[in-house]
Amino acid sequence: MRWWDVDPVLALERELFPEDAWTPGMFWSELAGCGGPAPMRRYTVAEAPDGSIAGWTGLAFAGESADVQTVAVAPRRQAAGLGTLLLRDLLTAAADLGCREVFLEVRTDNHRARRLYERHGFEPMGLRRGYYQPGNHDALVMRRDHTRPLPPPPGPRAPDAGGTPAPSVPTDREA
Ligand SMILES: CC(C)(COP(=O)(O)OP(=O)(O)OC[C@H]1O[C@@H](n2cnc3c(N)ncnc32)[C@H](O)[C@@H]1OP(=O)(O)O)[C@@H](O)C(=O)NCCC(=O)NCCS
Repeated sequence: MRWWDVDPVLALERELFPEDAWTPGMFWSELAGCGGPAPMRRYTVAEAPDGSIAGWTGLAFAGESADVQTVAVAPRRQAAGLGTLLLRDLLTAAADLGCREVFLEVRTDNHRARRLYERHGFEPMGLRRGYYQPGNHDALVMRRDHTRPLPPPPGPRAPDAGGTPAPSVPTDREA
């Protein structure tokens, strides 16, 4: 993700997270952590064939531990395998960085995201009550033992499975 991606990402962010969208300042601050001699963040975007943003991910890392900061897929690109592709890319990067455990928080009522994480070996650790404000939604804290391999990727999708096909290889532009 580069500075020119922030505006289109923000537009989608507000659509996807109407109650608690990240602010421009939050994205700028995260992107600042991607550069320099000792980066602490990794942000990527997936680009659709028409050049629009199809999805993005953010990872924070320090030593042997990492946190999934965000995973998001544009509404019209969802349910086509892109979220899986993006999460697997992020988890592979965490392994390459030497991380042995990966944490995340997810809204307890976000069942699609929870299933995605569970399929990739994340296990519930506990609840953070009222973590998401405004709205007072609880967060489920999940942890992945990142010494374990990733599950095999899903096979090709049946043509009638619905959704817009995901790009086979997302454009991965690291800051
Ligand atoms: C959560 C989110 C990232 C998932 O992205 P996505 O692109 O829709 O995810 P996928 O298409 O990879 O997976 C969705 C479903 O398609 C299925 N699928 C994915 N690839 C498949 C394939 N090749 N063949 C068959 N099914 C497949 C998955 O099994 C999954 O099914 P399920 O919803 O019944 O569990 C997306 O819904 C999103 O951006 N939501 C809003 C933002 C958000 O909540 N982010 C998470 C914050 S913690």
